Amino acid sequence: MRTRPLGQCLIPLVVAAACTSGSVGAEDAAETEESSGPAPEPDFGEFGPLSGPEGRGSFRFGAASAATQIEDQNENTDWWIFTLPLAEGGVGKGSHVGDASMGYSKAIEDVLLMIELGLDSYRFSIEWARVEPVRDAIDEAGLAHYDHFIDALVEAGIRPNVTVHHFSNPRWVDDPLDLDCAGGPGDENLCGFGHPEGGPLVIEEIREHARLLAERYGDRVDDWATINEPINYMMASHGVGAFPPGKVEIFDFEDKLMPAIRDYVLAHAAVYDAIKTYDTVDADGDGIAANVGLTLNVVDWVPARQNMVSDDPEDVAAAERVYAAYTYLLPEAITQGRFDMDLDGEFELELPEIQGTMDWMGIQYYLRAGVTAETGIMPLLDATPCFDTLDLGSCLPPLDPSYCVPSMRYEYAPDALLPILQDFGARWPNLPLVVSEGGIATEVGERRAENLVRSLEQIELAIEQGVDVRGYYHWSLTDNFEWAEGFEPRFGLYRVDYGDYSRRPTLGAEVYSAIAHGRHISDEQRASYGGSGPLTAEPSHSGPLCVGE
Ligand code: BGC
Repeated sequence: MRTRPLGQCLIPLVVAAACTSGSVGAEDAAETEESSGPAPEPDFGEFGPLSGPEGRGSFRFGAASAATQIEDQNENTDWWIFTLPLAEGGVGKGSHVGDASMGYSKAIEDVLLMIELGLDSYRFSIEWARVEPVRDAIDEAGLAHYDHFIDALVEAGIRPNVTVHHFSNPRWVDDPLDLDCAGGPGDENLCGFGHPEGGPLVIEEIREHARLLAERYGDRVDDWATINEPINYMMASHGVGAFPPGKVEIFDFEDKLMPAIRDYVLAHAAVYDAIKTYDTVDADGDGIAANVGLTLNVVDWVPARQNMVSDDPEDVAAAERVYAAYTYLLPEAITQGRFDMDLDGEFELELPEIQGTMDWMGIQYYLRAGVTAETGIMPLLDATPCFDTLDLGSCLPPLDPSYCVPSMRYEYAPDALLPILQDFGARWPNLPLVVSEGGIATEVGERRAENLVRSLEQIELAIEQGVDVRGYYHWSLTDNFEWAEGFEPRFGLYRVDYGDYSRRPTLGAEVYSAIAHGRHISDEQRASYGGSGPLTAEPSHSGPLCVGE
């Protein structure tokens, strides 16, 4: 598929800069006609693999965000009540999301940052709780906000890539203050995914929500993601209770956690189905009205024992089991139309409605982590992964001490992205891949630039080897609310001053802007930030081990 600009520069309102700079490669893409017949070797031309195999401009440079993490005045989400202090009637977990990074009030201003960066595409989510704060009551002002925002993107020649569900719900889906849901599902609390009666209701509600979005925005949006990082989200929200609703079902894997995951997969399929049915407008004229994907968090799981890399066959097998459950469970279920409820590698539960519900796959790679078989605390997997501050001999000393991301307590190891992309390319050769997130929490500009350049270098190598990678979305455009970790981690290309909410470019923004405008990584950037080896150290980072510090 070749990229064409969406309504580029039609309404030169906020976007004069984009029109004059001509920087998003759109004109060049328009000049490049697809040739018929077999193309023996991809010709990347003078701009190299990040042009994409179909010529200059078909690879998308993007940035990503999620509504709850950036939007102010978002009072109807489950995150609002979950993080509201106890004294104010909330659940009192972590830092209150509050005004996040003011991304609702500053939505149009932030488009200017994207123009400055030279982005081809922006991935963001639409807050379900803003559109439907009360069950079945649609808020027109909320819908209109996203209309204006999408218009501004389109005017700037920046393709919207909309995620329907990114880690948040309206409170009425599964109220964090009423986890037992003893009265059964009702308008104020549907009891959430996995509940025998409530689960199917939530799936129908999200189908309706996706239909609304498709009908309302489908004339300008072709790229959609259904749900974000399902396993991560389910583990955090239903497994260990770190995210709302705050259910701790990790030790009730078979009866509670797996049914919730199954329902979430069904929700994905319902969203896919609704968008494919109701987004009937081909906004970019490429013959496809809706290109609907799914994003997955992929971790480089390494066998470990007593905090060392292990070659014990039991640990190797445990790491493989965790990698498969974490990585393959969903794509495999969608490919087969069946679900593996007991994680034994056999897909026994027939779910024909999910089969084939994926047009592209988003890979989100952030970290390397250990897994040991020694203390198998995950019953169905008989394995213990290194997870956050939980270290039962499964965590690893970093390959390079500076790689540790202190505020997130994990290690970023750049070299793992290539094997992950190769693995997906080999396993699902016909599925286009997008690196739909990648980034690093840091206060140090050089580290962000290194993360960016090294990730793009890994993608280049994958493309050169024939893996179909269509784009890279850096996480994130601006600093934002990092869920359970609050506001300390700084993932933004633009730093947010939480006093006045002004945005200031980091070195990462400068480097990314040069890459996106030039559509390649310069030799100078490679020499300064690329390759392998230690990243520039984070001064605030004190010790060699990030986990358990
Ligand atoms: C999520 C984002 C999150 C990022 C950095 C991804 O898992 O999709 O919402 O902010 O990682 O932790």
